[in-house]
Amino acid sequence: MYQVIARKYRPQSFDELIGQEHVRTTLSNAIARNRIAHGYIFAGQRGTGKTTIARIMALCLNCVEGPTATPCGKCSSCLEVAQGNAPDVIEIDAASNRGINEMRELRENVRYRPSRDRYKVFIVDEAHQITNEAFNALLKTLEEPPEWAVFILCTTESHKIPTTIASRCQQFSFRSVEFADVVSRMEFICREEGIAAEPEALAVLAQAGEGSVRDSLSALDQAIACCGASLTGEAVRDLLGMYSLESLSRIAHALEAESTAEMLEIVAELERSGKNFQHFCRELARYFRNLTVAKIACADGKPTRLIAAGDIEQSHLREIAAKFTEEDLTRWLQLAIDIYGQLQYSLQPRLHLELGLLRLVHAGRLKPIEDALRELQASEKPRVGAPAQFTARSAPAPYPAARPVAAPSYGRLPAAPAPVAPAPVGGTLRDKLAALLEQKTARMALDALRNSELVETPGGVEFVTTKQHAMGLRGADFEKVVAQAAGRPVKVTITLTEGSGASGSPGASASCPQADAASERALASPEVQHFQKLFPDSKVRGVRDLKE
Ligand SMILES: Nc1ncnc2c1ncn2[C@@H]1O[C@H](COP(=O)(O)OP(=O)(O)OP(=O)(O)O)[C@@H](O)[C@H]1O
Ligand SMILES: [Mg+2]
Ligand SMILES: [Zn+2]
Repeated sequence: MYQVIARKYRPQSFDELIGQEHVRTTLSNAIARNRIAHGYIFAGQRGTGKTTIARIMALCLNCVEGPTATPCGKCSSCLEVAQGNAPDVIEIDAASNRGINEMRELRENVRYRPSRDRYKVFIVDEAHQITNEAFNALLKTLEEPPEWAVFILCTTESHKIPTTIASRCQQFSFRSVEFADVVSRMEFICREEGIAAEPEALAVLAQAGEGSVRDSLSALDQAIACCGASLTGEAVRDLLGMYSLESLSRIAHALEAESTAEMLEIVAELERSGKNFQHFCRELARYFRNLTVAKIACADGKPTRLIAAGDIEQSHLREIAAKFTEEDLTRWLQLAIDIYGQLQYSLQPRLHLELGLLRLVHAGRLKPIEDALRELQASEKPRVGAPAQFTARSAPAPYPAARPVAAPSYGRLPAAPAPVAPAPVGGTLRDKLAALLEQKTARMALDALRNSELVETPGGVEFVTTKQHAMGLRGADFEKVVAQAAGRPVKVTITLTEGSGASGSPGASASCPQADAASERALASPEVQHFQKLFPDSKVRGVRDLKE
């Protein structure tokens, strides 16, 4: 009878396993020292060896030469466990036996001594599916287990195991198995089976499993069924609907050339060859993920274990990653994930994909905000009086503590002396306005002005202030004075801010001194000032001190 590869090659000993070193060592030490617990939880990704190790445990415990970490594999006990018909190794699939009755039965069963072997081993697969009542029944057993009972609960969702149960068990987490280990396991199996497989074919199969050995072996089965005894990378990729690096590299080329036309051509070609767009997007996201990792983790030009790909593929990835910045790659990865998500619900996947790919090109043209700031800083150099050797690359400018009081002309008037740097637009109008109000001895308005943020808009002037000070700005001829100061007719608008944060006057007892200091610092900081120059229409609406 034909047996699928995954089952035929289920490891029968700790040595035969790949990955899960931490589980193997701990368990074999425990067995060697005869410190065997009554309850174990094996938790983790599907197809990574939970049931397999549970069975190996059963072998170890019940081998006639045991308990031993290296069972003989020949005695009747070992043979029966391997065949799955040992009387004292009871496997329960909780997916179909999840109720209270099954657990009661199990509780009964536990009370009787093993019929022949040393231990009664209960392997409960998919343990998270057990119902609550059934867990309670199981709990009683775990609280006072007979000396011969060993429970191994296997689950992909350990958080669903009640803590009352978990705290009575030793828990092991099973990790996804590394790419290279899966490849070498498949090499071994192919040798045994007389299959000639290109390294690239195995790489594709290992990638497809995403760390699950069973998934990779099932894909191998499928590939053999489809292609026979010789597997090429291309055939396997076609079978699994995976994309070659070359085909994905076309995207990278289009991005490098900033060619939207090329992107549209790629989509057209996918459609012509009947490819699944969603699948393509998933591969694309994985591709950008790998490029990003290659950029970050492979600065030394060596392959990394963080990428599930062979050496040749990795060097290819590194080459491409070198052409782009980390920011670009990260942004594209984010976009690729978004496109993938959108496609799932899209009735017009082609449009979505086209739009998405065009966006990738546009996103690549965005200049990082840091660069814009840096350039500004560089051009500002002489004015802020920074030392000559201060270059644009030497990180963001320090906070103004070490500098002469730079003029925070937003939010309020500088308390003497006049600013060193030429005051920005708002300042000029403010100065003129202040002078005019001074002339008219309009105290209230002057005070209100000091406590307002002043924003010039195309059609007028906006005063952002608190309710308390707004009154001072509502005087009958205030608008005229502003127009006079501005030298043109203007419309005055008053916008109220909440609280006193950005507008408390130094003398006003009501204002909060911390908020005041914070806004002063924030407004004086070179970053904020640069932003305000970059975006002249922007306003600072409020400042919050995150330490508070
Ligand atoms: N660590 C491993 N080393 C070698 N082969 C493995 C390993 N993990 C899984 N396999 C292969 O995959 C098959 C399935 O593994 P197993 O039944 O132990 O997975 P599992 O973790 O119990 O998965 P599930 O959560 O789906 O029950 C095994 O028969 C074996 O061929
Ligand atoms: Mg299992
Ligand atoms: Zn044995």
